[in-house]
Amino acid sequence: MVPSQVVKLLMLIEVLMSGVRLGVDALSMNYYALSCPLVEPIVKNVVNQALSQDPTLAAGLLRMHFHDCFIQGCDGSVLIDSTKDNTAEKDSPANLSLRGYEIIDQAKQMIENQCPGVVSCADILALAARDAVFFSGGPVYDIPKGRKDGRRSKIEDTINLPAPTLNTTALVKMFGQHGFSVRELVALSGAHTLGAARCSSFKHRLSHFDSTHDVDPNLDSNFAKTMSRTCSQGDNASMPLDPTRNSFDNAYFNALRRGMGLLFSDQSLFADRQTRRIVNAFAMNQAMFFFNFQQAMVNMGLLDVKEDDEGEIRLDCHSVN
Ligand code: HEM
Repeated sequence: MVPSQVVKLLMLIEVLMSGVRLGVDALSMNYYALSCPLVEPIVKNVVNQALSQDPTLAAGLLRMHFHDCFIQGCDGSVLIDSTKDNTAEKDSPANLSLRGYEIIDQAKQMIENQCPGVVSCADILALAARDAVFFSGGPVYDIPKGRKDGRRSKIEDTINLPAPTLNTTALVKMFGQHGFSVRELVALSGAHTLGAARCSSFKHRLSHFDSTHDVDPNLDSNFAKTMSRTCSQGDNASMPLDPTRNSFDNAYFNALRRGMGLLFSDQSLFADRQTRRIVNAFAMNQAMFFFNFQQAMVNMGLLDVKEDDEGEIRLDCHSVN
């Protein structure tokens, strides 16, 4: 079999496998077909308008969906505000740089005007993340809908978000606990084709790195200098995660091959033999990356979803009903 046939065969197997996983859920592609048929165009319009003004917000929406799904499942828990009795997920240090809440609010308001009390905040966030990827030049894909909003949002739960200091072994373990394969971990990490990170997320690589190195030896030396210059402006100074921060492409994987992954966790995907193979494949074949990313995103969007009376349709995404 020639290599292109092998790729096609692998893709077919993945489609069949993801169908198996999807089948067990009560979510569906046409969940709102009768109750709110315009939900998808409304979200898409709001997202497109906002991103036309500020394309960097695409990264914010994508990351927000990830942080929602990894904690308590995709249930909009990341959108809930703290109250005097409860410090919510969004006030965790890991979530302080999340952006794009106003886009979700605007979409929710327009949807409530059309079909009150029908569409969950969790679904709106999942759709907005999907539309942000497409707006930025990434793949277009359909996602199942019908998630319910959760009633719990606690800062302590965010301990389960991955830290940028994790190596591949730890990432494989953490993502594995959510049911993701190694290939899915690498594909999802490709979300770092969009956006930026603050110095506080990568400065540990630049001095006193470990007992034998001052600077992370996997870093390109010129890139390390640029990182140090950024950090000289303070912990909140930021740098793009790849050279094309507003384009959804495979430049992130090519950057890893040059030792120019900004986060330790990113570069570690190239340092590890098992994941390097996949990084190289995605760097050489953008279509393969897109295909694996969209499959993994559909699966991420199904994490611990709440159905029926396990959750509610929040009237305001900022607070439980
Ligand atoms: C593999 C484990 C991951 C780790 C350790 C990680 C960690 C981080 C860190 C530390 C930042 C920078 C935050 C800051 O400095 O303000 C970041 C940014 C970002 N992450 Fe991840 N992340 C991971 C996986 C993911 C996944 C699976 C997605 C989405 C599917 C994602 C989407 C993003 C995006 C889009 C940004 C840029 C945000 C912006 O510019 O506003 N990340 N991530």
